[in-house]
Amino acid sequence: MGDSTLRIQDNRTGQSYNVPIENGTIRAMDLRQIKTGPEDFGLMTYDPAFTNTSSCRSSITFIDGDRGILRYRGYPIEVLAEKCTFLEVAYLLLFGELPTEPELKNWIGDITHHTMLHESSKKLMDGFHHDAHPMGMLVSSIAALSTIYPESRHIEDPANRLLQIKRLIAKVPSIAAFAYRHSLGFPYVYPDNELNYAENFMNMLWRMMEPKYVANPALARALDILFILHADHEQNCSANTMRSVGSSHADPYLTTAAACSALAGPLHGGANEEVLRMLDEIGSKDNVPAYIKKVKDGHGKLMGFGHRIYKNYDPRAKIIKWTAERVFEVTGRNRKLDIALELERIALEDEYFVKRKLYPNVDFYSGIIYQAMGFKPAIFTVLFAIPRTAGWLAQWQEMLTDPEQKIARPRQVWTGHEVREFVPMEKRVPVAAATK
Ligand code: ACO
Repeated sequence: MGDSTLRIQDNRTGQSYNVPIENGTIRAMDLRQIKTGPEDFGLMTYDPAFTNTSSCRSSITFIDGDRGILRYRGYPIEVLAEKCTFLEVAYLLLFGELPTEPELKNWIGDITHHTMLHESSKKLMDGFHHDAHPMGMLVSSIAALSTIYPESRHIEDPANRLLQIKRLIAKVPSIAAFAYRHSLGFPYVYPDNELNYAENFMNMLWRMMEPKYVANPALARALDILFILHADHEQNCSANTMRSVGSSHADPYLTTAAACSALAGPLHGGANEEVLRMLDEIGSKDNVPAYIKKVKDGHGKLMGFGHRIYKNYDPRAKIIKWTAERVFEVTGRNRKLDIALELERIALEDEYFVKRKLYPNVDFYSGIIYQAMGFKPAIFTVLFAIPRTAGWLAQWQEMLTDPEQKIARPRQVWTGHEVREFVPMEKRVPVAAATK
């Protein structure tokens, strides 16, 4: 074995360089010394969509995509889903260790006491159109918390950060529930401090005339498990947004709103809503082969399939399938499950999907459970954002306390004009794309 360096030979100049290898990476800045002459800026890497670039060191979430492994702080996701509550897992993500009994009691107490929304949040939400998408309402209302808690901009103060973290984890479910009630034209329901995190969310969503909401324990536990599965997923699109926006030292509400916006896209957290649309479009098990053929012919994607990191079965999808059975014991079977199972069966045997290592991801089955529980598809991504807030905040804290991190600022490969003569108005030609 040689030393831990990479020998690079620059065939343009004949010079060679030794670049240190650490944790299976080389530092991109070590390439800058590779120049053709004093005027040369130096070599950079080009990696659109960060497919082979680590942007940070992290000890929060570990994924081995080839082996289908997901761990939070070293604990396998399967164990956490079986033995913990979501708030225990949020604590683990944020503070690195599972809480002791008194720590958990305090943590639950703190979160519970921050669930109320300021009345101005309520008024802001009243202003949305009756059919506003709940994700748009969630993003805007989280950003608006920045105006209610202006002290949150002191992100350098750990105690201040912790207060905002508690507020966000506590208030996001309240905002989510208000957005849902608004879309149905129902009055808002205030939090009930006697209920646990998942039960209280269900109370804010579904309480009508009854004086006290009593959640079905099996459904509340299923929702809590879904929250655990969605809590973090290392450097995905929204976590990367959280780190990138947070690196400018914007306050945590604006930063979380940005991460939430990234989650809204159909290639990320918006996929669960799209899966339901797709299953509706397919309509019955018999239509599955024709739909798969359409996808293979390049007309659309199989939503809820494929992942940038998992090239094996997503371990969260396995737990969700198991959870679905528990939910259906209460709600009755969602007949879309049969279409989904048939899609999965055929896709996992089909050469197109096998060759590309496309497996069901977390979003493939989650929507079916949510629908069986009574959620409308438009709220599915909001249900993803609630637990992911804990993961975003853990990533944000880690970024802010990492002495190596600075404001995020990628480089570009310039493909535009060299300096040009200014064109006066009478000589300009129309730009085709702008006049269509
Ligand atoms: N259906 C059909 N074909 C697919 C799918 C799919 N769902 N996903 C990828 N492919 C194909 C691509 O067309 C490509 O084929 P090609 O090599 O012939 O061009 C190949 O598989 C590789 O796909 P990429 O798009 O390069 O993979 P990437 O890592 O960039 O994308 C992504 C990952 C965005 C998740 C993609 O698989 C996808 O769009 N899936 C559907 C949306 C979805 O379910 N998103 C949720 C992801 S999980 C989450 O964010 C919580």
